[in-house]
Amino acid sequence: MDINSKSPAAGGRLPDWLRPGGLLGIFSLAFIFGLSLTFELTRDRVTEQERLRLRSQLQELLVPGSYDNAPDEDVFTDSSTGRVVYRARQQQQPVAALLHTVAPDGYSGSINLLVGITIDGKLLGVRVLSHNETPGLGDAIELRRSDWVLGFTGRSLDSPPADQWAVKKDGGVFDAFTGATITPRAVVNEIRNTLVYYQQNHQEIFR
Ligand SMILES: Cc1cc2nc3c(=O)[nH]c(=O)nc-3n(C[C@H](O)[C@H](O)[C@H](O)COP(=O)(O)O)c2cc1C
Repeated sequence: MDINSKSPAAGGRLPDWLRPGGLLGIFSLAFIFGLSLTFELTRDRVTEQERLRLRSQLQELLVPGSYDNAPDEDVFTDSSTGRVVYRARQQQQPVAALLHTVAPDGYSGSINLLVGITIDGKLLGVRVLSHNETPGLGDAIELRRSDWVLGFTGRSLDSPPADQWAVKKDGGVFDAFTGATITPRAVVNEIRNTLVYYQQNHQEIFR
């Protein structure tokens, strides 16, 4: 025992680490350590959940048995636009492309879409991945709210003809919603843009 140190009871000073500032520091460090540990332990699980979610979104648009690869792992990223495309293949031959795309002009901003297109340019289907449109008005673009989005399946750039690729209010063939035309107009326009992009880039996508 150090004969020069005095116990607190004997009127000595508390060691630095036991004083309020020191204790606070120790608790803060322990808290930060706990948080980092939790983050590290859950990160892999979150990534796995995101992968499973993406896989099921892609599977929803693809015809079962029409492909034998893992499209979520067969990714093309357009270097000039950053656009992400998942590719489905059967015995290495291209079958379909599933394109992430964004309609920038919804009523409340961007609408994220997944657009499935067969190798010959026909729509396999469309799903809305996320949006901020108004519940009860613009959110009818979601499949769980209405089947409006199913109306695109089987369409292509030729069907309907280019001048009818629009909502009915703009002279096209696609329904809008009562009192809410802005949202469906944005989605229709973006799907058409995506078909045009696919037509112009499919060779590069599947190279
Ligand atoms: C509070 C509020 C929320 C609205 N949300 C939407 C929406 O999510 N999507 C949409 O298309 N229109 C929405 N509208 C309506 C638009 O302002 C616009 O009037 C409508 O899209 C035009 O459609 P119409 O030409 O069929 O009337 C909203 C209006 C208000 C007042």
